[in-house]
Formats: sequence, C-alpha cells, structure tokens
Amino acid sequence: MKMNTLEKLFRKKRKQVIGLMSGTSVDGIDAVLVAITGSGTRSNIRQRAFQTYPYPRGFKQFLLKNSDADTARLDEVTRLDMLVATFFADAAKRIARTAGLRMDDVDLIGSHGQTIHHLPQRQRLFGKSIRSTLQIGNPSALAKFTGVVTVGDFRVGDIAVGGSGAPLVPLFDYLMLRSRTMNRAVLNIGGIANITVLPRNCSIGDVVAFDTGPGNMIIDALTHRFINKPFDNGGMIASRGHIIPELLQWMIKHPYLRLKPPKSTGREAFGQVFVDEVLKRGRGMEPADLVATSAEFMALSIFQSYLRFIRRKTPLAELFVSGGGVHNAYVMEALRRYFTGISIRTTDELGISSDAKEALCFALFANEAVAGHAGNVPGATGARMQTILGVIALP
Ligand SMILES: Nc1ncnc2c1ncn2[C@@H]1O[C@H](COP(=O)(O)OP(=O)(O)O)[C@@H](O)[C@H]1O
Ligand SMILES: [Mg+2]
Repeated sequence: MKMNTLEKLFRKKRKQVIGLMSGTSVDGIDAVLVAITGSGTRSNIRQRAFQTYPYPRGFKQFLLKNSDADTARLDEVTRLDMLVATFFADAAKRIARTAGLRMDDVDLIGSHGQTIHHLPQRQRLFGKSIRSTLQIGNPSALAKFTGVVTVGDFRVGDIAVGGSGAPLVPLFDYLMLRSRTMNRAVLNIGGIANITVLPRNCSIGDVVAFDTGPGNMIIDALTHRFINKPFDNGGMIASRGHIIPELLQWMIKHPYLRLKPPKSTGREAFGQVFVDEVLKRGRGMEPADLVATSAEFMALSIFQSYLRFIRRKTPLAELFVSGGGVHNAYVMEALRRYFTGISIRTTDELGISSDAKEALCFALFANEAVAGHAGNVPGATGARMQTILGVIALP
C-alpha cells in the first residue's frame, strides 16, 4: 500500500509541493507552496504562496548554544530534532492555508531542516575517514505531523559520495536560471554567502559553486549585540558608519577565503569566535563603524572570490542576487561598486522570488528525488559523482 503512495506520486503530472528552509541565520522558517510540473531541465514551477514564519523568541540563542560543541547538550539536541519538526509542520500547514489548500491537496514536502552542525573536513575515527553534517527537524516526524510524503536530509547523500554536502542550491540555479547566451552567476546572501557560476550554454558538468564566506552572519551578530535587533534593517547602520581599514585588512586575511573551491563554510568559521575577535580588535570604536566594516568585508570577500576563482575562466556579464542580503542597501551598493561593468540585479527579475528562492530549491529537490534524478552538483560539492539526494519519509 505504501509503495502505492510513492507510485501515485511518481505518476502525478502536476504536484502541489511545499518547500521548507531555515538557514544559518536561524531567523525563521521560509515556507513556499508551488505547483510543479515536469522534472529535471523540464521542471516548471509556479509559486502560489510564500511566507517566513519567525522562530519563537529566544529560540535562536537556544539553537546556537546547542550548535556549538562546547555548549551543546545531547538531551537538548535530541529534543530539538522533534521540536524543529513541529515548527516546520506548523509552517507547512500555515503556508497551505495561505495558498487556499487543504493538507490533503498537498502532494509532497521538501525540507532542508535546520543545520545544527556542519563538519565538511575529514577526520580519522576508528580507522575511518569521516565527514558529517547534521540537520534537525526530523523528516519522518514531519511526514507524520503533516500527513504528507516528506523528503529531507538532502546533504548527507552528497557527503556519502565524497562531497562536502554543500552548497546544494547550484542544482536549482542550473535547472532554473542558466542562460544560453550570457556568463551568469547567482549569489545567495543568507547567513553565509554562496555563488553559483553558470557559464553561457553550460551543462551540469560546467557548473562551479562555492561559499564565498560570510553573508549577513557577522552583521547580525553585531546588531544583536549593540542594539538588540536581529539585523541591520536596510543596511541603515552600515550606511552611517565608516570603514576601519586595519580591521578590514585583518578580516580579509581569514584563511577560508584562500581555500580553493569546492568549499563550504558556516558558523564554525564566521560565528561567535570570529565576532568576539572583531569586538576585541574594535574595542572603543563606533558600533556603526564595526557594522560598516563587516558589511564591506562581505562584499569584498565576494568580489575577491570572483577575482581569484572565477574571472579567468568565466568573465561574468551578469550577477543575480537572492537571500535576505538583498534588503541590505549598503551591501548591494558595495557589490555594484566592486563589480563595475557587471549587471547586478535580484533573481526576482528572472521570475524567482529572491526571498523565496532557497525554500523553492527544496520543493524542487523533493520533486527531483521522487523523479529519481540526481540532486548534487559535483563541481559545487566536490563529490565523486552525481547521486539522488534525500530521505523519503512516508506519513
Ligand atoms: N530588511 C532587511 N534589511 C537588512 N537585512 C535583512 C533584511 N531582511 C533580512 N535581512 C538579512 O537576511 C537574513 C536572513 O536571510 P536568509 O536568506 O533567510 O538567510 P538564511 O538562509 O541564512 O536563513 C537576516 O538575518 C538579515 O541579516
Ligand atoms: Mg532564513
């Protein structure tokens, strides 16, 4: 009978799919409901509803405490796996209602979950060489809470075939945003920033993608610290500040920036430890100057990544930006200042909502998993091969 569920799903031409995502910013759950027809390069998605459902007050701090190996508690992490599943289930139900659908009408959920720890570097353990990553918000529980077939745990499959489990977005970028005529890149600015390079008329083997370094993570931490706000709204604080050259010089020496792609990063590199060092070096300086310098660092690290790892092979004609960072006017202006001669727009202009994009990815990836298509891009993750990603959980 359960095989029947999957078989029916496989044969259904037009599916109502929910995509759920929460990134390293831990700001809330992005939920999107889309109608998908086709799959692979023939995928067609139509967005019906999108919302971000903020996490409850204090949850971000609780999650971050449990993401840090020095402060995490195993009992709390275990409970968090279920708690986050309940939050994701609520988000799924709310977005269905917003779209005017009953849960019975929803065919499929694709959920990224919430990353709690990401360890892409190999380490030897009992004679085995291990990398790993942990996303919580248990997919099996999510399927039970919603009554909908749920695909989750997308990153682990890539790690199992030698990849670093990130970034996954490049498959979406390839399927939905490639151009026949232009060298194009797509930049997502979440907590971390990542870029996907799509040479004109590319095939999947030509796609290169990697995390350039920090996105909003450092700015968010500083604004939380100084004015108890989750982010620098519109980039207003940064716009009032002045760059501190010595601090910027120190920031751009971060070893991650020199690592050759494929590569991925997270809070381990640009989280609390890094921010504490920024605060130490910036003692006595204006908070707005520290925020401005961190915003500048983000833009500069993105541009340096382009110069170091992209330009020679693929000189860009256009760059499309998505993620919460598009709302930071300082950052967008800084990018335009660095990338002179390259058109910078948001993905909205290609028909993909810049706020919904990452949630859209996971709706599409769920559809790809059910269709039996590979979900990873070896040029992005360093995997040995393409492979189907995700765990399919039945309600
Ligand atoms: N109005 C805004 N002004 C400035 N920054 C914003 C605004 N809205 C969102 N952001 C930034 O975007 C982040 C959330 O972006 P998102 O794409 O959801 O990242 P993630 O995938 O890491 O969750 C926020 O933490 C904040 O830094
Ligand atoms: Mg987010």
